[in-house]
Amino acid sequence: MSDKNRGSFKGSIGFVLAAAGSAVGLGNIWRFPYLAARDGGGLFLLVYLILAVTFGFTLLTSEVAIGRKTKQSPLTAYKKLNKKWGWIGVLQCIVPFLIMPYYCVIGGWVLKYFTVFVTGQGMASAEDGYFGSFITANVSPIVFSLIFLAVCGLIVIMGVSSGIEKSSKILMPILFVMVIAVAFYSLNIEHQWEDGTIVSGLDGLQIYMIPNVEGLTPGGLFKIVTDALGQLFFSLSIAMGIMITYGSYVPDEANMVKSINQIEFFDTAVAFLAGIMIVPAVYAFNGMEGLEKSGPSLIFVSLPKIFMQMGLFGHVFGAIFFAMVLFAALTSAVSILEAVVSSFIDKFDVSRNKATVGELILAAVIAVAVCLGYNMWYFELTLPNGSVGQILDILDYITNYCLMPVIAIATCIFIGWSLKPDGIIEEVTKNGEKFSRKGLYIVMVRFIAPVFILVLFLISTGILKFK
Ligand code: PHE
Repeated sequence: MSDKNRGSFKGSIGFVLAAAGSAVGLGNIWRFPYLAARDGGGLFLLVYLILAVTFGFTLLTSEVAIGRKTKQSPLTAYKKLNKKWGWIGVLQCIVPFLIMPYYCVIGGWVLKYFTVFVTGQGMASAEDGYFGSFITANVSPIVFSLIFLAVCGLIVIMGVSSGIEKSSKILMPILFVMVIAVAFYSLNIEHQWEDGTIVSGLDGLQIYMIPNVEGLTPGGLFKIVTDALGQLFFSLSIAMGIMITYGSYVPDEANMVKSINQIEFFDTAVAFLAGIMIVPAVYAFNGMEGLEKSGPSLIFVSLPKIFMQMGLFGHVFGAIFFAMVLFAALTSAVSILEAVVSSFIDKFDVSRNKATVGELILAAVIAVAVCLGYNMWYFELTLPNGSVGQILDILDYITNYCLMPVIAIATCIFIGWSLKPDGIIEEVTKNGEKFSRKGLYIVMVRFIAPVFILVLFLISTGILKFK
C-alpha cells in the first residue's frame, strides 16, 4: 500500500494517548501492584523506575522509530530496512495474532463483571466459586468475549484517526481520573479485623511504598530485577508489533523524544496509581495473605469480595473499578488488533475493512477454542516454566516467554550492529529535536539490553535457575 493511503494520527497528543492506551492495560492493574507488594515495596518501585528510563526507553524508542522511518507495520517494516532481518517482522506480527484471541477472552470476563456491577448484582459475584462457574459455563464466556472483540473491531474499522485516536482521547483521560479517584478512596479505608485491630489503607500504603530490604540476598535482588524487567516489557507493549504500527502513523513533524517520554510517564504513573488503588484496599481487608494473589484471581475473586464488604458504596466502587479495567483492556486490545490488521493491509494490499473482518473471524475462532479450554476441552499441561495451564496459558507462554524476548534481543542486535544506532537517532532527531539520552541509548541497545534480556529469557523459560 502506498504511504499516502496509510492512516495517520492527527497530532502528537493523539499518538501519545493511543500508545498509552495500549501500554496501560491489565498488566498495570493486575500484576504491577502485586509484584510491588511481594518484591520489597519501594525497592521494586525504584528498580522498576530505573529500568523504565533505561530499558523501557531504549526499546520503545527503537520500535516507534522503526515504524515512523519505514511507514510500515511490523510484518514488512524490518524487511524494508534490511532483507536479511525481515524474519523479526514476521515474529512481531505473530505475537499480536496469538495474543488477540486470549486477550479478548479476558476482556470478555471484564465486560461480564462490569455488567454485573452496573446492574447491581455485585453480591452474587462475591460468592465462592462464582468466577470458576462463569468461565467454565458453555455459552456466556463466549458471548462476552465476542462482544468485546466486536467492539474492538468497530474501533479499528473506523480507522486510525477517527477510530483509534478518537477513542483513546476519550477513554484515557476518563481512565486516569477514575484511577486517581479510586486510589484516593482506597487510602481512606478503615477496616476492623476479627481480632479487633483496625487496619487502614495507609497501613497498606506503607507495604507498597517503603523499601523492604530485610533479609535481601544478591539472588533476591536479581529476582526483583528480572520480575521488574519482564513486567516492564509487557507493560510498555514492547515486542508485540504494536509500537511499530503506531509509530508508522506518527506525523513526521511530531517531536518523538517528547512523545516517548510522555508514554513512559503515563504508563508508569498508571501502574503506580493502580498500586495505590489495590494494595491498601486488599491489605486492609485481607492482610498480607490477600497480597499473594495476582491476575484473574485478584480482580475477579478477591476484589469483588472486598467491594461487597464495603457495604453500599462497594457497589459504586466496583462499578467504577470494572469500568476502568474495561477501558484499559479495550484500548490495549484495539492496539493488538491494529497491529495485525495493519500488517495484513501493508503485506497483502487489501482494504482496512477486509483486513479487519478477516482477522476478526480468525481471532473469534481461536477465542472460542480458548473459552472451550475451560469447558469441554479442559486439560492441564505443565509448561516448561513450571506453571500448569490450558489453551490461554499456552498462548500466553509462547508469546510472553518465548517469542517476545527473542524479538527484543534480535531487535537490539539488528539496530546495534547492523542498522547501527545512528539509523534510529537520525529518525528521532530529524526535526532538530534534542535527544538527551543519546549516549545511553547507544550503550543500551548495543550491549546492556540484549545481554539482560537474554538472561531474563533463560530464567523465565526455566533453562537457567537460581536460588
Ligand atoms: N501493555 C498491556 C498491559 O500492561 C498489555 C498488552 C498486552 C497490551 C497485549 C497490548 C497487547 O496490560
